[in-house]
Amino acid sequence: MNIPAAVRHTSLKKWVAAMADQMQPDEVYWCDGSQEEYDRMCQLLVDAGTFIKLDPEKRPNSFLARSDPSDVARVEDRTFICSLSEQDAGPTNNWMHPRQMKETLKPLFNGAMKGRTMYVIPFSMGPLGSPIAQIGVQVTDSPYVVVNMKIMTRMGTAVYDVLGKKGPFIPCVHTVGAPLEPGEKDVAWPCNPDVKYIVHYPEERAIWSYGSGYGGNALLGKKCLALRIASNMARDEGWLAEHMLIMGVEEPNGTKTYIGAAFPSACGKTNFAMIEPPKSFAKKGWKVTTVGDDIAWIKPGDDGKLYAINPEAGYFGVAPGTSRKTNPSAVESIRANCIFTNVALTDDGDVWWEGMDGDPPAHAIDWRGNDWTPDSDSPAAHPNARFTAPAAQNPVIDDKWEDPKGVPIKAFVFGGRRSNTIPLTFQAFNWAYGVYLAATMGSETTAAAFGKRGIVRRDPFAMLPFAGYHMGDYFNHWLSFGRKIQNPPRMFVVNWFRRDADGNFVWPGFGENMRILEWIVNRAQGRAMAVESPIGWMPRYQDLNWEGIEGFSEADFRTAMSVDRDDWDKELLQHDELFIKLYDRIPKEMLAIKDLTLSAMWRTPDHWELRYDPT
Ligand code: OXD
Ligand code: MN
Repeated sequence: MNIPAAVRHTSLKKWVAAMADQMQPDEVYWCDGSQEEYDRMCQLLVDAGTFIKLDPEKRPNSFLARSDPSDVARVEDRTFICSLSEQDAGPTNNWMHPRQMKETLKPLFNGAMKGRTMYVIPFSMGPLGSPIAQIGVQVTDSPYVVVNMKIMTRMGTAVYDVLGKKGPFIPCVHTVGAPLEPGEKDVAWPCNPDVKYIVHYPEERAIWSYGSGYGGNALLGKKCLALRIASNMARDEGWLAEHMLIMGVEEPNGTKTYIGAAFPSACGKTNFAMIEPPKSFAKKGWKVTTVGDDIAWIKPGDDGKLYAINPEAGYFGVAPGTSRKTNPSAVESIRANCIFTNVALTDDGDVWWEGMDGDPPAHAIDWRGNDWTPDSDSPAAHPNARFTAPAAQNPVIDDKWEDPKGVPIKAFVFGGRRSNTIPLTFQAFNWAYGVYLAATMGSETTAAAFGKRGIVRRDPFAMLPFAGYHMGDYFNHWLSFGRKIQNPPRMFVVNWFRRDADGNFVWPGFGENMRILEWIVNRAQGRAMAVESPIGWMPRYQDLNWEGIEGFSEADFRTAMSVDRDDWDKELLQHDELFIKLYDRIPKEMLAIKDLTLSAMWRTPDHWELRYDPT
């Protein structure tokens, strides 16, 4: 082992040696995070057949990888929270006792890296040295993971300096679970098609991942560290680790409002984080900037405000559907220096996916490596195909995105995919009610994800797959956190996905979401422009700015904002399903708020819409 001089941390050296001892790699390589190293590793991946270099004119310094068809997404059913007590993991997580899990994993990890190199990746989640940042060290036998971690985190030698001789780090162990016998030829995407384990030990603050090379299963800084382990740290230490984008909204007079927004996976978080304001807004000087597109770490400052950082340094975005129309800044962000996984390859050496601008190519190679034409039965890109792009390439990146102090958050937004019941937007009466709304948020399953459309899956705070402890305790943490802060951000709900009686989307979405954002900013800044309803503060038609909108009428607004008492009655009763599941730890506030809301709904004999006239 050629340990770099910068490593002065005795227990880190010991841990790496122990990992090498157990997993038996041919070699151990300590990454320095340099550009030279990145280029060398990309070449190594090209030589191994994992990467295809894209056309240097069309997509400079960019590569395409195709995964094994069995290894295309996060594996929630193979993801475990191994706390000492099963109750602490709660009913929404898979659990096994740490001792039993370690016994299960030991034979799998023993010798798992035979025939491969073990890479040591030092990384910081968050700007190096920020009081909100955390350091992790991942060992992995996947060079694909190394180059992705280089884009997604602050990785390299400088991390050892921050660690010093005995600074804390989160150990992250990863293997693709495909040891090579002497002389055995490797495949382009090594993984274990049969056995996968994504394991978290919350008390130990450790992560062990086996068998997958893809996304959140393998880039351990992201969902495993920054959400599942960090949510435990945040609960213990009094902060928040959330599945939220962070955006800045600048008004024409220069006032900037930072917002954290939680949406379940596949609800367009990256698009919203980079929203392009409609022309009528842009002309006046409205600007939206991105701090982060997926994860927010939030701590109270001495001034009573909440400060948020984006712990990541890149975007691991869903490629299909990304276009100039849906997200022009993402298109710009992925022009060069990117890794594409499971998208299609065009004959001229560029990438393509469903939903890209322009006509589909007459011929391409699909994500499985087969010929594809527009007449093919299957999509050219896998629906969960991804781009890995450096955040700094985003043309609307916020100028404070690397500020170690973070940005002050004024509002939280929660939104799911709901074809009915939930109006386009409304504001919670207070923090506790906002926690209730976020806790009970749901999203309709998409055909791609669950085979059946339209089933509401409760996804509290968009954290269902990511909260590393009991969801009831998590609600309690939010409630008690809110009690301690002087100026709690305002809480809002949005629903871009409401459908009319014919099943068509009512709201145009994308850039037009700016109109809702303006209302949210106005409310968060304490400007009136809402009326009270039993479910919260709601805008009337005249409270929103409609300048320049086409094809959206006052009647459409009524449909988008309508709240049907029977639907809400059903909705509130359905919340009980979640509460019953979490019964041993559900905060009493949740039950009280549900009853209050139900009784507010039924307080008058008239349909309550009489008391909220959206026009
Ligand atoms: C993601 C997810 O990849 O939430 O961000 O699944
Ligand atoms: Mn996400």
